[in-house]
Amino acid sequence: MKEKLQQILETTKKEIEAAKEMDQFEKIRVGILGKKGELTKVLRGMGKVSTEERPKIGKLANEVRTEIETYLSKSIEGLKKKEKELRIAMETIDVTMPGNDNMLGKRHPLTTVLDEIKEIFIGMGFKIAEGPEVETVYHNFDALNAPQNHPSRDLSDTFYFNADLLLRTQTSPVQVRTMKASDPPIKIISPGRCFRVDEPDATHSPMFNQIEGLVVGKDITMGDLKGTLDILAKRLFGPDTKTKFRPHDFPFTEPSAEVDVTCFKCGGKGCSMCKKSGWIEILGAGMVHPKVLAECGIDPEVYNGFAFGMGLERIAILKLEIDDIRLFYENDMRFIEQF
Ligand code: DAH
Repeated sequence: MKEKLQQILETTKKEIEAAKEMDQFEKIRVGILGKKGELTKVLRGMGKVSTEERPKIGKLANEVRTEIETYLSKSIEGLKKKEKELRIAMETIDVTMPGNDNMLGKRHPLTTVLDEIKEIFIGMGFKIAEGPEVETVYHNFDALNAPQNHPSRDLSDTFYFNADLLLRTQTSPVQVRTMKASDPPIKIISPGRCFRVDEPDATHSPMFNQIEGLVVGKDITMGDLKGTLDILAKRLFGPDTKTKFRPHDFPFTEPSAEVDVTCFKCGGKGCSMCKKSGWIEILGAGMVHPKVLAECGIDPEVYNGFAFGMGLERIAILKLEIDDIRLFYENDMRFIEQF
């Protein structure tokens, strides 16, 4: 029995030395010290040992067990230490290594131009107003005095969700929302996305941005409108820029005008940019129609106002001399980085 115990001790030690992974240690432990383990079996056979030998064998068996346990736990510790050292070595950061270049983005040219326009209007006392892109037909057309047969209401021009809901085709519905929600004096601009059924090409996009303007108060004149837009034009395109109003028709303004600025490239002499005319159209404007004021709960006998709307992309294209509107939406850094 003594020899058996000695032998168990020797072979187990060898097995422990050879083990390289944690679960191997566990297997060895169970195989020797577990319920059905070899050492346990030997101890179970103690009954057959003579009474005087029994304490000696018992003592030896206990020593063997303790020795195996100590040996096991030492080896486990050793392996844990090795694994930790390996992990630390692998995780070591070489602070002298060159870093990865993080690409720094750039402001989108539309954002830059929009911020510039916002600043000009904020400087004149305007506030920024916002409205939803998914709009009701009422706010987008009816409240703005657009007749039922107006071409812009056509299914081929506007994205409808159903008979009452659409993707706004203009920022003008924000005028309606603002007037309904607040009393005059009102002085707001409202930039935002608009949508129209359009085949994308160099000058058209089904999604684009407008900036709406609205001023409502007492005794507002067309001269106030012209003065405001004159300041905008001079600040945007240079101090020598002149503005010209051409009669036009919008359902929500009366009278209405389209506004041109002198070509900032040729100064009005005529070039390829202005198609030899010396003038470039930049926006639509007019005096708010009394019907629109009344629909929005403002008494047209007491108050009046002016409104205007411009395409952000158009202004940016002119200012930055970009020849294709689609470039704005591709997010190609080679384009964006140029501005
Ligand atoms: N909503 C017009 C459009 O999309 C632009 C416009 C013209 C807005 C005249 C106005 C305005 O507020 O008074 O073409």
